[in-house]
Amino acid sequence: MIFCRIGMVVKLQRTNMQRRKALKGDLRRGTHSVVGITLASHRSGLSPWVRSSLRRLISLPPGVALDIPCGRGRHSRLLIELGFRVIGADLDIESLRAAVCDPKFVGRFVAVQLDAMRPLPVAPESIDLLMVIHPHSLEVLSGALKCLRVGGYLIYETFGAQGENWRLLPKSRQIPDEILSGFDALACKETRVDKARSFVTSKGLFQKVSP
Ligand SMILES: C[S@@+](CC[C@H](N)C(=O)[O-])C[C@H]1O[C@@H](n2cnc3c(N)ncnc32)[C@H](O)[C@@H]1O
Repeated sequence: MIFCRIGMVVKLQRTNMQRRKALKGDLRRGTHSVVGITLASHRSGLSPWVRSSLRRLISLPPGVALDIPCGRGRHSRLLIELGFRVIGADLDIESLRAAVCDPKFVGRFVAVQLDAMRPLPVAPESIDLLMVIHPHSLEVLSGALKCLRVGGYLIYETFGAQGENWRLLPKSRQIPDEILSGFDALACKETRVDKARSFVTSKGLFQKVSP
């Protein structure tokens, strides 16, 4: 019995040591484990698509991200924790105010109040990661794509089909074919809306390959 307990303790200590060693190695090598830890610590309140897409981009060095529309900055916050400097753009000043109140945002977040349906005051090809999550219109996506540099990544997701929302959703393959020429699809998913089957919810992770 005593042997068994000692054996278990030694085994546990070894496992913990191995974990710590592996973690140190990962941290030395790059951002992989940092991303893993940060993403795991945000269990709720974030789009699962955003989380899984960022996991796929584990080797992407943090740069400048554009989160549009950013709302109250739930995804901007995650990007900041991953080391990005973030431009958060939204029409709603109260949402932007709520975002900049967070002390974590200081020095790493620029809030821009704008109408995303108009030309954006962001230099072309200046953004490393573009995040377009639950925009009210797909025109937000088409307007923002030119801000992304070649080699940069786009994470997008339409809102869900609840209530009458589906009326504003795209039709099948509308996004990849009409908007995203010049991009490689790393992951994308379309789900048909039950009530009106030509409409879909859509999400994607793309890399820009040509201007
Ligand atoms: C459903 S929220 C999504 C916000 C954020 N991406 C998120 O996932 O939490 C939609 C946002 O679009 C913003 N919005 C609506 N019309 C806009 C426009 N013309 N230009 C910029 N933002 C707009 C709203 O203020 C709102 O914050």
